[in-house]
Amino acid sequence: MDNTIKHIGVFTSGGDSPGMNAALYAIAKTAEANGIKVSGFRKGYEGLIDGDLVQLRSYKLQKLTQKGGTILKTARSKRFMELDGRKKALQTLNANKIDALIAVGGDGTFKGLLAFSEICDIPFIGIPGTIDNDISGTDYTLGFDSAVNTAIENIDKIRDTAESHNRVFIVEVMGRDSGYIGIHSGLTVGADAILIPESGKDFINLLKKVKNYNSEDAFLIVVSEGDEIGAELVSSKIKEVNPNVDLRITKLGHIQRGGNPSALDRMLGIRLGVEAVKSLLQSKKNVMVGILNNQLHLTPFSEVVKQHQVNKELHELLELFGT
Ligand code: F6P
Repeated sequence: MDNTIKHIGVFTSGGDSPGMNAALYAIAKTAEANGIKVSGFRKGYEGLIDGDLVQLRSYKLQKLTQKGGTILKTARSKRFMELDGRKKALQTLNANKIDALIAVGGDGTFKGLLAFSEICDIPFIGIPGTIDNDISGTDYTLGFDSAVNTAIENIDKIRDTAESHNRVFIVEVMGRDSGYIGIHSGLTVGADAILIPESGKDFINLLKKVKNYNSEDAFLIVVSEGDEIGAELVSSKIKEVNPNVDLRITKLGHIQRGGNPSALDRMLGIRLGVEAVKSLLQSKKNVMVGILNNQLHLTPFSEVVKQHQVNKELHELLELFGT
C-alpha cells in the first residue's frame, strides 16, 4: 500500500452528468477511511489554475448522492489547453501539497490529464463521467443511464400527443459524436426510425418507410444530435418524399443532463469513486477506472480517449427494430 499519499485533489470537468456527486462522496469516504485528506477544485481545470479549492467531507456529501449536476461545478477550460495554464495548475498542486489527482469527466478531461502528465509527476486517476457513453474502457459512463431514462420519459410523453394528431415527430437526443443515447432511447420507446452517427444506412431506410406512411398513426423518429444529417434536414427530406405529413421537431437538449441520478448511476459513482482511491493506494497512475462485464477495470488514458464503438449486437438491434 502506498503510504505517501496524504492529500488527494479531485475535480469534475466537461459536461456534468448525474452520478458525479455520488462519485465525490465515495472518494471522500474511502480517503477518510485511509486517513487521507480530500480537496475539491471548483469548475474543473479552472479551479486548478486559480487555486479555487475546498475540503470535501463525506458526512456533507452523503445526502447529495441523489442530486444531479456536480456540487463542485464544472467547465470546459480553454486556459488549461495552453501550457501556461497547465504550469499554473502545477503551482496550485505544489502550493497545496496535493499528492494525487482524481478527475471525473469525459474524453476531453482525459486528454487534459495526458497533456498535464508531461509536466506533472503525481499520479492521476480518471472516472468516466459523461452522458454520451462514448469512452473506451468502460461499458457505461456515469450519467448515461439517467440521461436515457430522462429521454424515454419525455419521448413517451411526445408519443401521446403524436398519436392524438397522427403526426410525424422527430425527437433529437444528445450525443455529440455518439449514438448510444439515440439507440437506447429509440429502441426502448418503440421508435419507427433511429438515426445515429455510426450508421450509414438508416436515413435511406427511413425515407423508404416514411414514403408509404399514410398518417393513420404516429410516426416517431429518434435522431442523435451527432447524426451527420440532423433533425432539420431529415424534416425537409421527409416533406419532399411525402408532402402530406404533419411533422414536428422536438429537441430534448440539456434536460437530459439534469435530474436525480438513477440507481445504476448512483451505484456506478460509488463503485468507481471507491476504486479510484484504492487504485492510488496501489500506486497506480494515469489510468481510468471503469466497469467491463460488471468487473472493475483499469485502462491507460492513452487508450480511453478512443471512442467507445457501438458494437455489432447494437448495430443488429438497430437493423431489426430501428428502421
Ligand atoms: O456532456 C456531453 C454533452 O451533453 C453532449 O451530449 C452535448 O453535445 C454536449 O455535452 C453539450 O455541451 P454544452 O453543455 O457545453 O452545450
